[in-house]
Amino acid sequence: MILGAVVLAAGLGTRMKSALPKVLHPLAGRPMIAWVLGSLAGVEVSHTVVVVGHGADAVAALLPDGVSTQVQQTQLGTGHATAVGVAGLPEHCDTVLVLCGDTPLISPALITGLVAAHQSSGNTATMVTTVVSDAGSYGRVLRDAAGVVTGVVEARDASAHEREIHEINAGIFMFDRASLNAALAQVGSSNAQGEVYLPDVLPAMGTSIGTFVSDDPDVVLGVNTRVDLATCETILQSRLRKALMLAGVTIPDPTAVYLDADVQVGRDTVLLAGVHLRARTVIGQDCVIGPNCVIEASAVGDGAHVINAVVRASQIGPGTSVGPYAFVRPGTELATGGKIGTFVETKNARIGARAKVPHLSYIGDAEIGEDTNIGAGNITANYDGFRKHRTTIGARVKTGSDCVLVAPVTIGDDAMTGAGSIITDPIPSGALGIARARQSVIEDFTRRAAAKARAASDDSGGHQV
Ligand code: UD1
Ligand code: MG
Repeated sequence: MILGAVVLAAGLGTRMKSALPKVLHPLAGRPMIAWVLGSLAGVEVSHTVVVVGHGADAVAALLPDGVSTQVQQTQLGTGHATAVGVAGLPEHCDTVLVLCGDTPLISPALITGLVAAHQSSGNTATMVTTVVSDAGSYGRVLRDAAGVVTGVVEARDASAHEREIHEINAGIFMFDRASLNAALAQVGSSNAQGEVYLPDVLPAMGTSIGTFVSDDPDVVLGVNTRVDLATCETILQSRLRKALMLAGVTIPDPTAVYLDADVQVGRDTVLLAGVHLRARTVIGQDCVIGPNCVIEASAVGDGAHVINAVVRASQIGPGTSVGPYAFVRPGTELATGGKIGTFVETKNARIGARAKVPHLSYIGDAEIGEDTNIGAGNITANYDGFRKHRTTIGARVKTGSDCVLVAPVTIGDDAMTGAGSIITDPIPSGALGIARARQSVIEDFTRRAAAKARAASDDSGGHQV
């Protein structure tokens, strides 16, 4: 048996009411079609063809190397789409696995089981079915008195009696390629939708049709509406959280934590409520993340504490502290033991080991050396209205509160700045940079000012009430 896979993904997904092709809608951060292709992981597939139509370029752009596309110009139904797909398989593929791009929960285990069952049975077709309490818009599986499958009737074409059937077509099939082609040539489109239905090949195939019944109805859930999309998301989220908990991560309120598929979290880390980990984020061991954090495409080292923060495309080192209320923008690197504190925004900034930016600051396009402490309310003024410039701050520096460091500017190791300074020139190592008007003290000012005000009021004949 040489297996070729055909994934049907040309439909508009009318019921999604979306400009985005249905199979590109994300689930746990991955497009739906990627979940379907992922289910092929356990079987040896000689070639995979994705049938594209609506949003063909966008779908094709997201496909992994080695997967080819066939364009179905007009969406004439799943049978027609299958014919278009099969035509794109190399000649040597004698067996065809058909999957729908809109059934994202199918698992590698289901596909391996299906392939093995089809191969050992010698049938010309094997259809995956499952039994559901509410068969909704799924195609109902028809069996004769002996239990042999005779076909599938779509919900829209079914009689009231047929609609009572609970066994549904999951949209996943194995076929002998030659028999499939012969049967497809005979299928018409006289049905409620005027489409060529793939399951209509079954009656033309005689009696050698097998079924592979999945005992988990979730695994074949098809997404037609955003309600179905949310149902799949809920199931995937619960699987992802469960996998992390079983791997040693504490999640006290699992339904309040949202994970993308490719996220990794180390042992004994605690994920509190309102945590969203996205896009290949990697969290180390013994961290406390949350409540209320969005961390995407970032790495967080062992023992870090991140609370009420948004972290994007950044590297947060071990033993660090971020938040509460921090916005860590792309290109931030916080080294071991460092701190990005409350109401602090960083971007494209390297913050050295044990260096701290504790309060109310903006650090952008900057370098901060080890053990440096940035005073409250410091701003690296990195933009002159035309271009961005860098601020370089050495090790063991202490900046005063409310300083503006006007880039490009350099502060040497062990230097200091006076509070309220606007630093425009380099500060050498060990020096103090101070740039503010000196304070004047006017003695006895308030008493004299009040006396003056009283005299003016007497002159004008008025009086205070
Ligand atoms: C289909 C089955 C139904 C089954 C259900 C399982 C048919 C006629 N019906 O119904 O028996 O219970 O899946 O989820 O097969 N597509 C194309 N080109 C087309 C039409 C569809 O590529 O011309 C693709 C769609 O993009 C989608 C897949 O085929 O990924 C299934 O089409 P959809 O319209 O969702 O079929 P269902 O109504 O769900
Ligand atoms: Mg569907």
